[in-house]
Amino acid sequence: MKTYHIPNTDLEVSRIAFGTWHLGETWDTTPYTPEILDRADKLIHTAVDNGINFIDLADIYTWGKSDMLVGEVIKNDPSLRDKVILQEKAGIILPNEIHEGSPGYYDFSYENLTSKVERSLKRLNTDYVDILLLHRPDALVEPEEVARAFDHLQSSGKVKYFGVSNHNSFQIDLLKKYVDQPFVVNQVELSLLHNELVRDGLIFNNKGQHYTGAHGTLDYCRLNDMLIQPWSPVARGYIFAPNREGAPETADATAAEIKRLAEKYNTTPEAIGLGWLLRHPAMMQPILGTMKPSRIVDTVKADDVELTKLEWYGLLQKAAGAGVP
Ligand SMILES: NC(=O)c1ccc[n+]([C@@H]2O[C@H](COP(=O)([O-])OP(=O)(O)OC[C@H]3O[C@@H](n4cnc5c(N)ncnc54)[C@H](OP(=O)(O)O)[C@@H]3O)[C@@H](O)[C@H]2O)c1
Repeated sequence: MKTYHIPNTDLEVSRIAFGTWHLGETWDTTPYTPEILDRADKLIHTAVDNGINFIDLADIYTWGKSDMLVGEVIKNDPSLRDKVILQEKAGIILPNEIHEGSPGYYDFSYENLTSKVERSLKRLNTDYVDILLLHRPDALVEPEEVARAFDHLQSSGKVKYFGVSNHNSFQIDLLKKYVDQPFVVNQVELSLLHNELVRDGLIFNNKGQHYTGAHGTLDYCRLNDMLIQPWSPVARGYIFAPNREGAPETADATAAEIKRLAEKYNTTPEAIGLGWLLRHPAMMQPILGTMKPSRIVDTVKADDVELTKLEWYGLLQKAAGAGVP
């Protein structure tokens, strides 16, 4: 698989990454079963065998089970640790985490960030993670606290590089005013059916098109050499299987156009869905969420697809339900 070199790091990353949001299956404190461990092992080995060298994690995923499962898979095959880049996220406190009935919230304090990373390292059976992302913007952020946490985590060798997730351009600039380390990644929701970051640049100042609230974040990331990591890159499957409850209105037309292009290129629909993201000239590294090894194999074919501009805009038109202004 083709790779990106992330600027300001020594990391060479596969263009597609594997995500662990669903790895432990249930969002509670029940332990994972041998079957779930077996599935995690197959998924991670399938990803690596198909050229993926990047695993996206978060301390909260399946209440810590995702970290533990990746740790267990690495323990059973220690050669994996040098083959994969591990990216962790911290900063979210789950509902009921503090006490029964407590709300979910965000906490970028020194204490919370450092203790959560240390807990994840234990669960992962490793001394360090390659990248740490701030998971979702904390409305009460004190950037000096983030700076202190990053300094400690980097100087103690626990984290090599840093980034953000779900942050807009202004929020990143605020952090940058205090933090010495470069922000090398922004992980954001982006897919054909969640295309606001892309449309933001197209509808600027255009009367009648609704405001996306994206604050030029895509261009900001390009300007500042940040890797963009689209999460939910296939819109939770709706771009292929639009007939489920909750599907956006344009899912049907999008799926039909994907099918047409898959036939034209003699490839899988998954390759076209991801190929739409990879065609963008920003460094885009979609994070796959499938729990089916066969879908990883179908999806990595995206690395060989090069959509034309006509096809790229045609897909966007179907997904947005409107043409460009
Ligand atoms: N930073 C953040 O705030 C944030 C938030 C959410 C997620 N993430 C990251 O992004 C990763 C991906 O997110 P995601 O899981 O929402 O991504 P996704 O890949 O868009 O969605 C995965 C879902 O789509 C289904 N799917 C995939 N291919 C399909 C197909 N061909 N036909 C029908 N259904 C299909 C999967 O079912 P099967 O399992 O049956 O294939 C799974 O339920 C996560 O693992 C996590 O690492 C980050």
